[in-house]
Amino acid sequence: MSSVIDLLKSHKSIRKFTGQKIEPELFDILIDAGQAAATSSFLQGSTIVRITDPRKRREIAEFAGNQPYVETAAEFMIFCADLKRAGNYCEAYEKPFEGDFTEHFIIATVDVALMAQSLVTAAESVGLGICYIGGIRNNPGPVSELLELPKGVYPVFGLCLGYPDQDPEIKPRLPRSVILKQEVYNEEGDPEAIAEYDDLISEYYRTRTGGGHGITWSEQVSTLLSEKSRPHMKKFLVEKGFKFR
Ligand SMILES: Cc1cc2nc3c(=O)[nH]c(=O)nc-3n(C[C@H](O)[C@H](O)[C@H](O)COP(=O)(O)O)c2cc1C
Repeated sequence: MSSVIDLLKSHKSIRKFTGQKIEPELFDILIDAGQAAATSSFLQGSTIVRITDPRKRREIAEFAGNQPYVETAAEFMIFCADLKRAGNYCEAYEKPFEGDFTEHFIIATVDVALMAQSLVTAAESVGLGICYIGGIRNNPGPVSELLELPKGVYPVFGLCLGYPDQDPEIKPRLPRSVILKQEVYNEEGDPEAIAEYDDLISEYYRTRTGGGHGITWSEQVSTLLSEKSRPHMKKFLVEKGFKFR
């Protein structure tokens, strides 16, 4: 199998880092690798804000629900969906700005995810570890203020990057039959396959937590979807200029 496929299949989030810095040349290479990802309509609707100031890191770690690796990672960046940069040229070319449709929001958010994941793959290929930080959306307003994000730009997630100081087990994914369908969507065989997967995940959690909780996948995600999730996001995004027309 190709080494790239092996690399992709060995991904695991890293939440404990050594103090080793990332060389500036390598950092630039990783950014370039991220930027090479495909981008919808060539919009290039992503902006990365790199955070080096320890005080800002501390604040963001708190905003994200006290996630200490935001402070301890060698690098921490916030990936932003950015419709402002392109939108500036509507005015410059004397065209009306119509860049606040739901479709534009999807385009920019997808762009951000693709860029980040290419950067992540590049980072993991040179032995670095990563952890995405969606927790910043607990407090998108304060995070945006801290980063001085203008209208048309919103913080999608953070990313911790550094040399791993832990080697966790790979977290098993759903069986292929559950996520890959032929021609049409159907749920045939899913309950049985997911029941088996539940046992696997329960065992994974039991091992990882030293005999502690052994929650199943289905129980975990049912809780997630039974609770309101960051209900402030819609209002925040509308105020940021994403009107969802
Ligand atoms: C967009 C996104 C946001 C995430 N946010 C967080 C986070 O705030 N804190 C955290 O510890 N992990 C976060 N994660 C990591 C997931 O929990 C992790 O990817 C998932 O449990 C699967 O584990 P693995 O990455 O080790 O395979 C995030 C992942 C993604 C893709």
